[in-house]
Amino acid sequence: MGKIGHRLIHLDEVDSTNHYAERMLRERDVEEGTVIRATFQTEGKGQGDNRWWSESGKNLTFSVILHPGFLDPGKQFALNKAISLGVHDFLSLYLDPVAIKWPNDILAGSKKIGGILIQHAVEGSLLKNTIVGIGLNINQTKFDEELSDATSLSRILRREFNLKDAMALLCDALEKRYSQLKEQKNDRLESDYCNALLGYREERIFVVESREVPGIIRGVDEFGRLLVEHPGTGLKVYAHKEIEFMM
Ligand code: BTN
Repeated sequence: MGKIGHRLIHLDEVDSTNHYAERMLRERDVEEGTVIRATFQTEGKGQGDNRWWSESGKNLTFSVILHPGFLDPGKQFALNKAISLGVHDFLSLYLDPVAIKWPNDILAGSKKIGGILIQHAVEGSLLKNTIVGIGLNINQTKFDEELSDATSLSRILRREFNLKDAMALLCDALEKRYSQLKEQKNDRLESDYCNALLGYREERIFVVESREVPGIIRGVDEFGRLLVEHPGTGLKVYAHKEIEFMM
């Protein structure tokens, strides 16, 4: 099995690297660890119905093809944790603080610097193929007004980064965490994930059903649901979109 990034397909322009990966997988078997990177995406996909905007040639926009057949499909959020940690580890080479904002955002300080979009294909009771899409802002310094909460490495550190070098380091960081997942180093992954999680063990205000409520994040369960302890009412479990942070 190939390491993440051992095979790299670099496209000048594509609709979305996740779509390109889907098309590849429909046509043939693709080796694990294959990375499809684009200089520009015309229809970059974000979470839900969102688009992912990234200036041409400035950032890292890519998808990794994995075959995590060793993971129980019901526990696929473990992969999300490992990948988020890989991105977190890479950024931590340059920045502090970096945080994972549940479920899929990567923050530098309080601003979004990266996002992750994972698509699984289940066959029978196995996770057959997984496409891990990652968008990471590296050299872009101007963002549209509607992206006022966005930032990049360059914007924070005021220097340019070599994208090829950054890509190689990021692949190494992802490979390290993916290996830990395969080797079932679950306690290590879990504690590192919690320590990187925005708001972990901190008292914060959340919005639940349009009401502001205090709570403390206690972790994320195997199904990817956020565990929040509310004073007086105890521990509650939230799926994506059922709870929001007040930043
Ligand atoms: C999000 O935060 O909304 C997730 C963003 C994921 C963006 C990446 S860029 C590379 C890959 N291809 C896509 O079309 N989307 C993901």
